[in-house]
Amino acid sequence: MTVLPVLRMGHPVLLSVAEPVGLPIGPEIRELAQDMVETMHAEEGIGIAAPQVGRSLRLIVVLPLSERGSQPEVAPLIIVDPELEPLGEQVEEATEGCLSIPGLRGEVPRFVRVRWSGRDLDGAAIGGEAQGLFARVLQHEVDHLDGILYPMRMDNLRSLAFVDAMPPDPEENEP
Ligand code: NI
Repeated sequence: MTVLPVLRMGHPVLLSVAEPVGLPIGPEIRELAQDMVETMHAEEGIGIAAPQVGRSLRLIVVLPLSERGSQPEVAPLIIVDPELEPLGEQVEEATEGCLSIPGLRGEVPRFVRVRWSGRDLDGAAIGGEAQGLFARVLQHEVDHLDGILYPMRMDNLRSLAFVDAMPPDPEENEP
C-alpha cells in the first residue's frame, strides 16, 4: 500500500464530477482503494474520496464513527459508486475540515440521517442507514465526487477559520 499525495483546493480535479467505477471492479480499483485507506490513516482523516488523490472516480473510504474520537479501531468502509438519500428533513450544523483544505474548519449543515448504498470491492451491493458523524462524513465524501467542497455548503462563511487561530478545542480529525 502507498500513501498518495492529497490534492488541495484549487486543483481542477476537486471541482470535477467523477466518473462511475461500474462493473467489473478491477485490481487497479482495489489497489486504489487500499492506497486511499493508507492515505486517510497517514493524514489522520476520517474519510477520503478518490478525486482527492487525483482519480476522478466515484470511490470513497469512510470511517463509520458515531462521534468524533470514538472507536479508533473501527474498520474503514470502502464504497464504490456510492449513492445517498436523506432520511427525513432534519439538518444540523457541525464543524468540518477537509484533507484538501488543510488548517481550516467551518460549520456545515448536513442531513442528520441518510440511507447509503453502493458496492464493495467484490462488486456486491452494500448499503445501510447512517446518522450523526457517519452520515456527515458520507455526505462530505460524496460531495467530493460531485466537485463540491465543504465551504460551498456553508450557510455562514463567518465560521470558516484557521484551526490554529481558534480558541483551544478537543482534538478533531479531518474528513
Ligand atoms: Ni474532504
